[in-house]
Amino acid sequence: MANQEQSFKSIVAHCKEYGFIYQSSEVYDGLAAVYDYGPNGVELKNNIKEYWWKAMVQLHDNIVGIDAAIFMHPKTWKASGHVDAFNVPLIDNKDSKKRYRADQLVEEYIEKLENKINKDVAKAKKRFGEAFDETKYLAESPRVVGYQEEKKKVSGQLAQLMTDNDMEGLGKLIVDLDIADPVNGSKNWTDVRQFNLMFSTQLGNIAGEEGKLYLRPETAQGIFVNFLNVQKTTRQKLPFGIAQIGKAFRNEIVARQFIFRMKEFEQMEMQFFIQPGSQADWYQKWKDQRMAWHLALGTSDTKLRFHDHENLAHYADAAVDIQFEFPFGFRELEGIHSRTDFDLASHQELSGRKIQYFDPKTNESYVPYVVETSIGCDRMFLAVLSNALIKEQVPGSDDPNNLREVLKIHPALAPVKCAVLPLKRNDENLVAKAQEVFKKLRPHFNCQYDDTGSIGKLYRRQDAIGTPYCVTVDFESLDDNTVTIRDRDTLQQERIPIDQLQEKIRDRVNMEQLLEKL
Ligand code: GAP
Repeated sequence: MANQEQSFKSIVAHCKEYGFIYQSSEVYDGLAAVYDYGPNGVELKNNIKEYWWKAMVQLHDNIVGIDAAIFMHPKTWKASGHVDAFNVPLIDNKDSKKRYRADQLVEEYIEKLENKINKDVAKAKKRFGEAFDETKYLAESPRVVGYQEEKKKVSGQLAQLMTDNDMEGLGKLIVDLDIADPVNGSKNWTDVRQFNLMFSTQLGNIAGEEGKLYLRPETAQGIFVNFLNVQKTTRQKLPFGIAQIGKAFRNEIVARQFIFRMKEFEQMEMQFFIQPGSQADWYQKWKDQRMAWHLALGTSDTKLRFHDHENLAHYADAAVDIQFEFPFGFRELEGIHSRTDFDLASHQELSGRKIQYFDPKTNESYVPYVVETSIGCDRMFLAVLSNALIKEQVPGSDDPNNLREVLKIHPALAPVKCAVLPLKRNDENLVAKAQEVFKKLRPHFNCQYDDTGSIGKLYRRQDAIGTPYCVTVDFESLDDNTVTIRDRDTLQQERIPIDQLQEKIRDRVNMEQLLEKL
């Protein structure tokens, strides 16, 4: 656990030091759970969005994109169920005066049990070596069996209490499990209360409830209310999808989760409209496609897993998370939800407008069913970063203390594709030649020119932001128009003509290679 915390802390520190992410309004001591993206962060985030957009929209004949407004008619959120049901259970500790999500306190309790199981398994593995049979151990070790039974029991209780909206029961469960405040160990809890996660603001020209506007808590509703507009103007036939990337806002009660859980974040969502009855097939197809999208980045399949929802949201008849192993454990990265006709039917009812599709194949009109894929762009950013940031012995060095910090990010996502560096910064001819090479490359890739330090220091800086290639201009370059190109991962250096640089870099950093895998 201490190691995990350390690794998470070093990711947060790295993000600040190298211009990926800053705390919002830091000069005023920051605003909790709100973050700003710096110069390298915005490049990486844009690349993630481009990868998603191209994979979802451009690679599918039957998916189109939109960009809906953040503000929507307030009735939208009544119809969607967010006004009545987008709540989380909160509990306060009377001694520490800290506020927590009651369900998360129980989830942390369950996670501790899982950690205990994993610890016992690891110990036994070490003790028995080759002869260790994990399945048998899990089934027979009395202590591990006890932990598993407890885990199953508490998970079941939590799911039931959440489904029944039983806040009193949830408070009692926290007391029965003897859960203490993580900050000061106090068990002096208040009752559990429901808290709506939507932020609201007020229209200037209408007073009171009538003029109350919400900042959208998901982008999906902008797609639902535009279903007919898009279907009619694009003449799409079912099945077809509408995709969108945009900001969403939730008044999250969080502590120390960095960009994993924010108050203002970005979602990449796709609603796939289908014939009622075909949802099980499409649900499976989208599960497969979305997992393939993650794996194409080279992420190990041991770091990704499906996790079925135990308590379904008010709109879903099936739901699964794609979980990623963040430094603090496996957590939701993306959700795939079979949303039935809940949203379209609710908007139809509340608006009084017919929101249906005429199916020329069956000669019937009906409200389509929907399978949704929904991923947080910021959470994907954190997954990419935590998967890629490593400290390793410098390749080729015999000294175990000769370490480097390198971001082994997929080259197509890397914020900077290539850095051009003169071997000596105070040699006019080298600087001029390096500038010339830089000017040649910059229309094609996001490149950096840097002559602000020794070459070793410049290399380390580029490794830390994941730049796949460093191009060094030296005295030989002046004579024969060749440069050395250094590979971030292997540190191999190759001498090539300047004219071949563009092709060499493109081969490695282009996004097409990712899309071709899908
Ligand atoms: N339209 C469905 C929907 O919004 P969700 O599971 O609440 O479903 C989808 O959110 C995704 O959005 C999550 O898997 C996560 O990646 C991201 N997300 C949700 N809340 C977030 C938050 N507070 N901060 C960052 N990302 C968040």
